[in-house]
Amino acid sequence: MKFLQISPFKHLLSHSRFLLTLRSEQGKYHSLILFRLSSASETIWDHRPTPPSDTVRDGRVTPPKSDGMLENRQIYVMESTCPHLGADMSHAEIEEFEDTTVAVCPWHRYDFDLRTGKSETGLSTCTYSVEVKTDPADDVEKVYIETPAGGNNWRLIELRPVSEEFADPPPAPSQPIVQINPVISGSEVTEPVVPTTDPPKTLMQWAVLILNTANPTLKVMRTRHAVQLFRTGKLDSIGHRSSSAPPPPDVPPREESFLRNTVNPGKVKGRKSLAVMLHALANVEQWAIDLAWDIMARFGPSHPDLPPAFFSDFTKMALDESKHFSLLTSRLSATSPTTPYGSMPVHASLWESATITSHSLRSRLAIIHLVHEARGLDVNPGTIERFRRAGDSASVAAMEIIHADEVTHVTSGHRWFTWLCEKEGNIDPVATFREEVRRGWRGNVKGPFNIEDREKAGLTPAFYEHLMGEMGDEDMEQRKGAFNLGTGLKDLSLEEPVKAQITVEYERI
Ligand code: FES
Repeated sequence: MKFLQISPFKHLLSHSRFLLTLRSEQGKYHSLILFRLSSASETIWDHRPTPPSDTVRDGRVTPPKSDGMLENRQIYVMESTCPHLGADMSHAEIEEFEDTTVAVCPWHRYDFDLRTGKSETGLSTCTYSVEVKTDPADDVEKVYIETPAGGNNWRLIELRPVSEEFADPPPAPSQPIVQINPVISGSEVTEPVVPTTDPPKTLMQWAVLILNTANPTLKVMRTRHAVQLFRTGKLDSIGHRSSSAPPPPDVPPREESFLRNTVNPGKVKGRKSLAVMLHALANVEQWAIDLAWDIMARFGPSHPDLPPAFFSDFTKMALDESKHFSLLTSRLSATSPTTPYGSMPVHASLWESATITSHSLRSRLAIIHLVHEARGLDVNPGTIERFRRAGDSASVAAMEIIHADEVTHVTSGHRWFTWLCEKEGNIDPVATFREEVRRGWRGNVKGPFNIEDREKAGLTPAFYEHLMGEMGDEDMEQRKGAFNLGTGLKDLSLEEPVKAQITVEYERI
């Protein structure tokens, strides 16, 4: 049995469950969920002398008595998706009985023993042994897990606490509300989060509703609500196999107020230039929320074989992008109350790539998630440094959260791109990606590259080095042709001379 070190034990005290993404040398992904059931002993444990090593094979970790205390730390690891129909187990309920503890799937409530993985229904899931040992190299207590079968040299790609950090308070209840968000100019929400007539029942219906929601505050609130419903099994289904899945809009609408901007970014100076940057970054995040919903709504119905894990990954992405939007608009409001979100011009260049890739899931994953989003990994450190130099530590903290999340988004792009390559006859992901970029991109894929973070996401240099897109004007127009841009992107084009003076390289490559 092989074990992989995942974290110092102390780091697991911040949350009670974590999602783990592992990748093997062969490029296979495996997602696990870790449940930590300890409770009151955490702070005591934190301050006591280094404990002795302890090892337990069945997932339960109960260290020996130390300083007269018996710690009750129980760490369990199992598959992150339910073996029944693939629900995300990160929101499973934990139920403790006299002699066993089970995780109850949020979708159909099958229960799985955390130690054996067995369910009373007869199904079973894989569980993984856990060890907690003191590392002699640094005397720090560390957690190790058994690695999955079917791969070598597994690496931990992501260890993500199951919780969401938002700058805004949690969404209002699903009743009609009137809320004015002070961080967004003219952003008065008068519609309910859940429409009173014909409320969405499937994930596909929610995706299309959110794509059609112009108000950014409401878009964020609906995203949070829909993802919560999906994770906790309160939707009828994903709905991508239904013949009545609604079509997504060609271009998600934007609020009228964005066409009546009050601030010319070219004229703002000094500290306000940070506001220009925050405004531009928030705009990118608003499009990114739509892109996450669009990939589900546009390609779900044409790919009925997409498993629930695909929708888990992209709903997580939608939620992350909502969090980012919320963090950035909140920072904008704090640093420059006179230039709230919506007061400066925005553009829709990110959606141009969405239109160009609307015909193919493979192309969408390659261009949006492995070119645009990977470029974000390259430029974010420079943006963070700029905020740091300006002494804006809160924006630095927000950008660091965003950057860490973006690594996982590129990981998701890589995971589903390679999944698709395997489905389509085991074609080579590197060669296929390069071909997609050649056909769907213009000009060089520019560096300098953040090799380390790209590599964490699965993008080795073979994917992107010396790569050039050869899409010509004609190809571009042809690909865009299927879209009605007349009422979408064109309306968002900037009026001269009001143009952002900064380049958001995340989009403009
Ligand atoms: S019980 Fe988990 S998906 Fe049905």
